[in-house]
Amino acid sequence: MNKEDAILKIDILVDELQQHNYNYYILSTPTISNYDFDRLLKELEQLEAEYPDLVRPDSPTLRVGGEPTKYFANVVHKYPMLSLSNTYSEDEILEFDTRVRKVIGDNVEYVCELKYDGLSIGLIYKNGILVQAITRGDGIQGDDVTNNVRTIKSIPLKLKGNYPRDFEIRGEIFMTIDGFNSMNAEREEVGEQAFANPRNAASGSMKMQDPKEVAQRPLDCYLYYIPGNQLDVTNHYNSLQLASKMGLKISKNIAVCKNTEDIFEFINDWAVGRKNLNYEIDGIVIKVNSISQQKQLGSTAKNPRWAISYKFKTERVETILKSIDYQVGRTGAVTPVANLVPVQLAGTVVKRASLHNADIIKTLDVRIDDHVMVEKGGEIIPKIVGVNFEKRLSDSRPVKFIDACPECGTSLTKKMEEAAHYCPNEDHCPPQIKGKLEHFISRKAMNIDSLGEGKIEMLYDNNLVHNVGDFYSLKPEMLIGLEKVIPGKDGKKDSKISFQAKTVVNIISGIEKSKQVPFARVLFALGIRFVGETVAKKLTGHYRNITALKNASFEELNEVDEIGVRIAESIINWFSKPEHNDIIEKLSNAGLNMEMVESSDEASNILDGKSFVVSGVFENYSRDEIKALIEQYGGKNTSTISSKTGYLVAGSNMGPAKKQKADKLGVPMISEDDFMKLIDSKKI
Ligand code: IVH
Repeated sequence: MNKEDAILKIDILVDELQQHNYNYYILSTPTISNYDFDRLLKELEQLEAEYPDLVRPDSPTLRVGGEPTKYFANVVHKYPMLSLSNTYSEDEILEFDTRVRKVIGDNVEYVCELKYDGLSIGLIYKNGILVQAITRGDGIQGDDVTNNVRTIKSIPLKLKGNYPRDFEIRGEIFMTIDGFNSMNAEREEVGEQAFANPRNAASGSMKMQDPKEVAQRPLDCYLYYIPGNQLDVTNHYNSLQLASKMGLKISKNIAVCKNTEDIFEFINDWAVGRKNLNYEIDGIVIKVNSISQQKQLGSTAKNPRWAISYKFKTERVETILKSIDYQVGRTGAVTPVANLVPVQLAGTVVKRASLHNADIIKTLDVRIDDHVMVEKGGEIIPKIVGVNFEKRLSDSRPVKFIDACPECGTSLTKKMEEAAHYCPNEDHCPPQIKGKLEHFISRKAMNIDSLGEGKIEMLYDNNLVHNVGDFYSLKPEMLIGLEKVIPGKDGKKDSKISFQAKTVVNIISGIEKSKQVPFARVLFALGIRFVGETVAKKLTGHYRNITALKNASFEELNEVDEIGVRIAESIINWFSKPEHNDIIEKLSNAGLNMEMVESSDEASNILDGKSFVVSGVFENYSRDEIKALIEQYGGKNTSTISSKTGYLVAGSNMGPAKKQKADKLGVPMISEDDFMKLIDSKKI
């Protein structure tokens, strides 16, 4: 395509993609499938690669994340970024209303909004294009996090309709609760530390240097304030409606309130309603609606006098911190846990609370024998949120975080960018060994359900299993009669359990059966840091056998689709240890699958000549990969559904016509997971 045509085409594609983005992320009514959206995006990417000087500053391709940011530039806010004074009671809201009425009389109207629990952001648009995004910082100047913010799909890169040439709007970036939960589950699966709550996860994301990683985080943003009456309106409510017309994401959960009764009604509704939101709010914001009245009321150095926030109460009690234990998890992460003088909180007796990590202990400046405030928020484990310094003993000393592992004595390590301390002795530190053994036998890994946490502990404590390779040398005579003493509680006698013949037979046959587990799950079962289920599938699909994977260089690994620097480094590091290679040898000798099952006669027939239609977009495999598997296992691919079709493998965004036809002809519709199970069940 020549350059002139490219300019036109790029304009068309950018506009079209922006409209689809708006439909999906702001209106929640998409008019195009993900697959078609990706196709348009790819087309744009290709044109931009051909003509890099034609990349528009509002191009949707910027959302996948550009070059890493070395440091975030400090930028002075044009309008200071004030915060709101907090209240916790209805009385304080009545007092606020009285203060307001004293200045502006009784002709007052308020706007109530949700108080999003994330981090505040200022978005600056020039000629309608997002040019800068700045964090609060100290309110006077903040960090320029533009490259990270561009990856948040609900923030428009270009405004619609009428907008001022220079425009700034403020809002809150947050993480959705669903997104937070699944992100944490994935992090735990690959041995990364989970985030404590969605707010920490959102602000941690904004501090990341690589926007490509930020693009993977489930972030969202609501906008709620336009400083300096830039839109020349009479009231705040109208300013938000105009902003909404510009394509900016404004919440619908806003109410204009005539008096304090209306305000209390809004508060009470959301104190209950917040449980149904897919994001966290920690209160309600109450703002005087009229802009001229806002001006009349003015601000203090820190807070506007025309707005206030009402924070929902979290149950909180004071108790004494007696001591701190340090727990070492399966990944080697060391978590400090507070032992408290038992206290009643939200219906239960609390004796322990998480202190998360050394930074939190330092920030709170919490010390042994301090009177501490304990809260039960959204998280299950209560947490220490503050210290009553007035009651501090004069001879108290700051807590010195341990520097050696309490389990194995190895010196702890801490990476600059991570909050947790780690015990690096992954192969010889007891909880880490047990964690690795437990992971190995878990359902998604080797699925040896005749072993569990308790039995693993017995095997380990009796010196029978030190690493995952040892499972396959176990013999019935080594297990029979193995005993464990369970200490009696509350003065009761100790009891004993011992392995009987039936248990032993089950254990040995479970181990034996696991030898059939496919290679990808064996690789996942090894517990290599950052090699989760999906990564294991990618790696085994690419390298086909363990020797090829072991011999791959860092550069080669890094070139594999979706394998980044971190994963590549971790794999190289794992295979560099001789004892890991011994484990691989033991497992290979025991007959585990250390390679992909190629189309052997047995494998190639399991789909029995059945015909398949594959349609839609899939999570773990591409459509072509699924089709290749169908052929590999002896099935046939066809493109149209007929009464002869064996299965319809349906991904997301499959057209409705296919589904209707399958329903009509009684063709079973199966998901990607069902399909994998179908292959697995026939193989094992
Ligand atoms: S308005 C000058 N509205 O709560 C008023 N803030 O300290 C600017 N927040 O800094 C803020 N939801 O980070 C406003 N609907 C909302 C809000 C909100 C959350 C945050 C914001 C602010 C802090 C209050």
